[in-house]
Amino acid sequence: MSSPAVAFATENHLRFLSELKDLLRIPSISTLPEHKGDCRRAAEFLASELKRIGMENVRLIDTEGHPLVYGDWLHAAGKPTALIYGHYDVQPADPLDEWISPPFEPTERNGNIYARGAVDDKGQVWAQVKALESLMAAHEGLPLNVRVLFEGEEEVGGEGIAAYVASKPDNLKADFALVSDTDLFADGLPTLCVGLRGMIYTELEVRGSKTDLHSGMYGGAAPNPFVALAQVIAKLKDENGRINIPGFYDDVIPPSSEELSAWKSLPFDEEHYRENEVGSKSLVGESGYSVLERTWARPTLDVHGMPGGFTGAGAKTVIPAKAIAKVSMRLVPNTTPAKAFAQYKSYVEKIAPQGVQVDVRLLHSGDPCLIPVNNRYIQAATKALHEVWGKDTVFIRSGGSIPIVGDFDRHLGLPSVMMGFGLPDDNIHAPNEKFKLKNFELGIRSLIRFMEEAGR
Ligand code: BES
Ligand code: MN
Ligand code: MN
Repeated sequence: MSSPAVAFATENHLRFLSELKDLLRIPSISTLPEHKGDCRRAAEFLASELKRIGMENVRLIDTEGHPLVYGDWLHAAGKPTALIYGHYDVQPADPLDEWISPPFEPTERNGNIYARGAVDDKGQVWAQVKALESLMAAHEGLPLNVRVLFEGEEEVGGEGIAAYVASKPDNLKADFALVSDTDLFADGLPTLCVGLRGMIYTELEVRGSKTDLHSGMYGGAAPNPFVALAQVIAKLKDENGRINIPGFYDDVIPPSSEELSAWKSLPFDEEHYRENEVGSKSLVGESGYSVLERTWARPTLDVHGMPGGFTGAGAKTVIPAKAIAKVSMRLVPNTTPAKAFAQYKSYVEKIAPQGVQVDVRLLHSGDPCLIPVNNRYIQAATKALHEVWGKDTVFIRSGGSIPIVGDFDRHLGLPSVMMGFGLPDDNIHAPNEKFKLKNFELGIRSLIRFMEEAGR
């Protein structure tokens, strides 16, 4: 592995890390309106670095939401073109008091860097940029053609990038997409992700009385929207974890027997997962399916929060006029957000109890995807990963969603190589998110060697 680009990355590792910390200090939380300016600052940070390392046509592309970052370098005549994707937006950092070091003050501890966005996805985006910088420095150009497209709305559904990809496919002509926003199956085990769940994220709003009411004066006669909501939610899933929405499973395609048997030989310890990753007394879900099947290949439904009513300290005797529940469903290959939402909406309207009015709203959605693996880009990836990690690559799916990946296939006809370097216990979306420093380093190396192989 005597690649001069890898040598450049090794020599410059400390600088790469200190630059990443600068990016991590920008609180680019896409869902909170007060951080709109920070999202743009993160986009500008990336754009100015892309320019500095020699990418061309670098610009921010405005969307209805946060800007996209674009850059290209298209001078490798006769070589394939990669579309490099990642996201610079992050999830909110709360609960703040559970962070050992503050979320936007990146801190090194036990061989990790801790910060919101450390691994999801700024650390991985930075690994991509630093791989490009190293290749530029070592090759006087790149070993293949590259277009870079970073977004700032992945964590809120990715509508801006979806509209851009659908309307300007000619600006994104490429042969494959390189996505770094996923995990290794286990530390030290090179992994390619070949499937993601889709999702619909919804709000149920239930209204009862015309205003809040004294619960002594009216309790017994006035409808309570929280009770109604609880009744609706209780009917969405049965006690075995199966979703009760009629028709919800009609289009589900089970994994092939080859895929299932490959999953059986992955190093998965259910007891360790229960105790150390989940930390609950027992696991739940559909019987007859393994944990990996349940989280990768079966639809599911979760409630994220129920805003409204009285939630302060102490007691207040009120019947709230309205209640909200945030409910999402994860979807699997061959099912569609539009159909799933229609089925859900009509079921909820049917089961809503008397006396309340239910409004079923779709906040955002994303398609599931399954990636073809019989192509030279996947082969180049496994070759590069073997060199860097000394092991054969495992192919996994993930239960998470990256809405644009399905569109790369549908609108641009691109196979994706989902090469990511997170760990299952990196606490993404949770307090104390981290990125293992060694994986940042090996990630850059893997991306360098992959691009060199893909350009051969
Ligand atoms: N990077 C994650 C998705 C992911 C997580 C892939 C773990 C593989 C392993 C991504 O940033 C994410 O969190 N996506 C959201 C998307 C949603 C808001 C549309 C998700 O899955 O909740
Ligand atoms: Mn991500
Ligand atoms: Mn995320």
